[in-house]
Amino acid sequence: MKLQLVSLIFLAVSASAHSWLECVDTHVSNLEAAKANPELEVQQTCKGYPRNKVNNGDWIQESKTYLWDLNNDSLNPDGLACRPSQTNNYPSGVPMTTAKPGQTLRLRHWGNGHSRYDMGSPLNKDPGVVRLYHRGMKEAEIRLKSELTEQNWVKGAQANFSANAVIQITGNKMNEKANYFDWTVPTNFENGRHMMVWAWGWGSAVTSNPPNFNPTTDYNNALMNSWTTCFDIMVEGSSATGSDSRSSPSSAGSHAPATSICSSKKCNRGGMAANSCTGSDCPPCWYAAGEKYNCFDYKDGKCPFGGAYDCKKNLQARGATRFERTPFE
Ligand SMILES: *[C@@H]1O[C@H](CO)[C@@H](O)[C@H](O)[C@H]1NC(C)=O
Ligand SMILES: *[C@@H]1O[C@H](CO)[C@@H](O)[C@H](O)[C@H]1NC(C)=O
Repeated sequence: MKLQLVSLIFLAVSASAHSWLECVDTHVSNLEAAKANPELEVQQTCKGYPRNKVNNGDWIQESKTYLWDLNNDSLNPDGLACRPSQTNNYPSGVPMTTAKPGQTLRLRHWGNGHSRYDMGSPLNKDPGVVRLYHRGMKEAEIRLKSELTEQNWVKGAQANFSANAVIQITGNKMNEKANYFDWTVPTNFENGRHMMVWAWGWGSAVTSNPPNFNPTTDYNNALMNSWTTCFDIMVEGSSATGSDSRSSPSSAGSHAPATSICSSKKCNRGGMAANSCTGSDCPPCWYAAGEKYNCFDYKDGKCPFGGAYDCKKNLQARGATRFERTPFE
């Protein structure tokens, strides 16, 4: 209770948005009751943790030293998917998760004031999605944020950031007591350790979802990952053998629409309509502008404004900061 109060005060003075994964295997004994009556204290225990959670339960320490801001180039110059301290290490008291295929894990992340469009900070921003990535086999590591692609997304492992949350509202303030994301370990995960990346897709991406996009089953291309936490699952009791867990028929051959934007769409060079070009003849940094695109050359080796899709690296660049505008959006 004390910690919650401290975290609310901290939130009030902290302008930066963030979230991280707190627990991989959460057991909540009164979820429905707490959702119906958010005054109640949520009764929960954690049976499996993210990597190297040395300050477990210390919200302030973790918000300073545990979360990972993917797109801040000065904090993450090498473009890593995991905070370097999040190695495959589980100190005593904060063990790795053990699970069977078909078992549903309840992952818990922090809402931190971002669970609602009409409240919190910043106001009128979509809470976005949480989702999971995996290299498709055991003992394989996702190292770079450029690997957090649709191809390495665990099909179906995506949920609204705040669809399953206990949120207490007092006046115009919210206290997000717990945000959950239920995920069932796929049956094609074989026995052994599986490295996973939890990501909060919160930034707006340049790419858009296909017209028949189904938010419950399809990868959300319109959101760019902003924050990640890495964890492992020791899978036991599986009868799957060695196959690539990503190769399901529906994911084969599906690429982020960005790839097709980069090769076939028209864009306005330097933002000038009189200066249009097509696909790979254009400068590398693309920005959405309604139905159109503007494209620019690198400046000092980087895309000049936040929120670009870098067609040369095939990568969503960092998001626009509060003080920059995404050009022409
Ligand atoms: C990136 O991180 C640095 C160091 O913490 C901070 O000073 C800066 O404001 C951050 N930049 C953005 C765009 O958030
Ligand atoms: C998440 O849910 C909220 C509340 O229903 C909604 O406003 C928002 O658009 C949803 N976001 C996504 C990405 O599905």
